[in-house]
Amino acid sequence: MSTDLFEKGRSEKQASFVFDKVVALAKRRGFVYPSSELYGGLSGFWDFGPLGVELKNNLKAAWWGRVVHGREDTVGLDSAIIYNPKVWEASGHTKNFADPLVECKKCHSRFREDALKDPIGRLDSVEPSNLDKFTCPNCGGKEFTEPKMFNLMFKTYVGPVESEEGLAYLRPETAQGIFINFENIVKTNRLKLPFGIAQIGKAFRNEITTGNFIFRSREFEQAELEWFCLPKEADKWFKYWQKERVDWYLTLGMQKNNLKFREHEDKERAHYAVTAFDIEHQFPWGWGELEGIANRSDYDLKAHGLKYKDEETGEELVPFVIEPSVGIERSAFAFLLDAYHEDGDRVVLRLHPKLAPYKVAVFPLVANKPELVKKAREVYSLLATSHSILPVAWDDRGNIGKRYFAQDEIGTPWCVTVDYQTLEDKTVTVRDRDTTKQERLKIEDLASHFSSLLT
Ligand code: GAP
Repeated sequence: MSTDLFEKGRSEKQASFVFDKVVALAKRRGFVYPSSELYGGLSGFWDFGPLGVELKNNLKAAWWGRVVHGREDTVGLDSAIIYNPKVWEASGHTKNFADPLVECKKCHSRFREDALKDPIGRLDSVEPSNLDKFTCPNCGGKEFTEPKMFNLMFKTYVGPVESEEGLAYLRPETAQGIFINFENIVKTNRLKLPFGIAQIGKAFRNEITTGNFIFRSREFEQAELEWFCLPKEADKWFKYWQKERVDWYLTLGMQKNNLKFREHEDKERAHYAVTAFDIEHQFPWGWGELEGIANRSDYDLKAHGLKYKDEETGEELVPFVIEPSVGIERSAFAFLLDAYHEDGDRVVLRLHPKLAPYKVAVFPLVANKPELVKKAREVYSLLATSHSILPVAWDDRGNIGKRYFAQDEIGTPWCVTVDYQTLEDKTVTVRDRDTTKQERLKIEDLASHFSSLLT
């Protein structure tokens, strides 16, 4: 029986069941490891193993393919991570990029105030209230210090002397790299409004409270688009990007009923935003932010003293900015949760083939028949050199049933088996992950068959 936990709505027990299963699978099969595990780990940092790096790369390629390569009006950027600290003064981050921190008076554990009140971290459900009502998750204490604002930017020093002069920050968002390159990019690419500048790269936040696996970490990758448009067209483009971004998730197979929009209330909007909506995903602990879409108005360009000049008319203006921004790890987690299914004792990750770490696995029916292994190796080499379907997995351990199960569990969409009939007629079986149905195809047709399924 198929267990579509997310389609049917979940009890709390089912929710934590899915969370635990996905976290265990991620570790067991090499998607995600706790960083520095050898030395006891480091809270809020994760390493992505052989399958995790493929999943993240596939997500980044799918985002870039749609947002940059799929459009004539958007270009990309790869800026440095550390900027002149004046950038963060001008952008308002040194002053405003802070969360309220409270300390338990008994055990001195520190928490983000809103996370203490609502562990999911959703501010909309938090009413201003007395901290006395809350309990320290660490020691059960009931008394907390008054909230103090804590800046989330990681500090470092540039150059050999640790002085105020060399003080710099690891960027907490990639967006500022785009703003400070705005005039260079517009000039060198002769961009005309409206247009987009996109960047995927590392961001760092010294989060007070991390947790829920890779949902909130201290080092992560963001995929951000800054869309520059006429101020009077900002609302139109905001709606456009809301639709476009949800469509991206749906095209990659995310279940529609696991996504919804939520508008930010005044008190939770970032200092630069005039309007902000989250695309929320139904995580095992409830609805949570997957991606933010903000109207940043002319805030950032004005803050940096930048403007746009229309080359044809000579008109100068400060465009408005619409910004869809998503964390790659957070979206990887949402896709993993969404794809996790159990079918009897079979665990299946129903990842979209474009996201699946391996596209195809190749096996000999049995490993102790040299002629089958030789033929299977030939098929493997044929597919592994076909650029449109990389990467391809090889497996000759255990029996064929176990190999199918092992590939289902990591989301490999198709398994190719070389059997005795292959030696006679140059055909193989191709098994589909989701239906488990098998068909026979000619070896010579395999590469084009899989390529066509992946485009
Ligand atoms: N430039 C806008 C910006 O950074 P944000 O809402 O703070 O906006 C955008 O972050 C996205 O980045 C979030 O929707 C989430 O997907 C991801 N993100 C933010 N903080 C994160 C964290 N600590 N760990 C993992 N992902 C995070």
